[in-house]
Amino acid sequence: MKRWGGWFAMIAVVFLAVPAMAAMTVKLGVVTKPGSAQNIAAEKFKALVDERTNGEVTVKVFHSASLGNETEILQQIQMGTVEMGVITSGVFDTFDPIVRVIDYPFLFRDDAQADAVLDGPLGAEILTGLEASGFKGLCFSENGFRNLTNSKRPVRTAADVSGLKIRVMDSALHNAIWQSMGANPTPMPWPIYTELEQGVIDGQENPLWVLEVYRFHEIQKYLTLTRHVYSPHIAVASLSWWNRLAPEMQSLLQTAMKAAAVFQRADNRARDADRLRMLEEEGMQIEKRPDIASFREKTDVMREMNLYQDPRVKSLLARMLA
Ligand code: PAF
Repeated sequence: MKRWGGWFAMIAVVFLAVPAMAAMTVKLGVVTKPGSAQNIAAEKFKALVDERTNGEVTVKVFHSASLGNETEILQQIQMGTVEMGVITSGVFDTFDPIVRVIDYPFLFRDDAQADAVLDGPLGAEILTGLEASGFKGLCFSENGFRNLTNSKRPVRTAADVSGLKIRVMDSALHNAIWQSMGANPTPMPWPIYTELEQGVIDGQENPLWVLEVYRFHEIQKYLTLTRHVYSPHIAVASLSWWNRLAPEMQSLLQTAMKAAAVFQRADNRARDADRLRMLEEEGMQIEKRPDIASFREKTDVMREMNLYQDPRVKSLLARMLA
């Protein structure tokens, strides 16, 4: 019986595996619009795959949430109806709590430290951990350090945040961060321009590229460089689809996505100083040196919260904070 089982498995692999260079189309979902951080990584990946497979593999980038919001894209990737996505780390929270160690407040000091950790063994542990939820974690590209904006008042200390209605991603962790700060966090999927414009929410928190690309300077007067969370984008594939690819194809896609991420991180960082200048010229009032200690004081307790008590999550966070 066991021997027959082995034969069936071999025959299934022969018929179901995708040959190394078979023509195929790969659907890749992102929620942001062309020119955004996620899209730059996705488009670079598409170009590299096209070049390296002589056009045999077409990556079709579905942008601007045309496949749904980030949670919905991840669900489709889990089911295998969408092959790939470049998704904000915070949103993985509901799929695998291990990812929330990355978004722990004030974990990373700067880009170099974030790169060293995410490209090292701890980052690899997170990517591998995603397999338990049906994702093949490929690598980290960059969203960036998240900063607070709002339409109500200048924010310099954590006390200034009190009562502000701040949009957060669909993430228990991000909700808890803003609750700890005394704000009124409001989970909402991307995009959020209309909600900000109509005053349904007072503020939001995101890296500088978001303010530029989505023109938030038109509707948010105050920016505070809180840099409270370093937020990567995680490039993931559907594990069931990935396991059917030939090893050569897996390696080609993995290498292309890594190269796209390296390209995109550098591109994003090279533009931040200009973005800040532009936002100031456009009339945003920018608090460049907020009282970070006051924010940290509020969020340092988070380590003890239930969110971080799962033994796998606790152990990884302890190693990250070491
Ligand atoms: O705030 C978010 O939802 C994300 O940071 C965004 C803007 C989709 C970029 O990853």
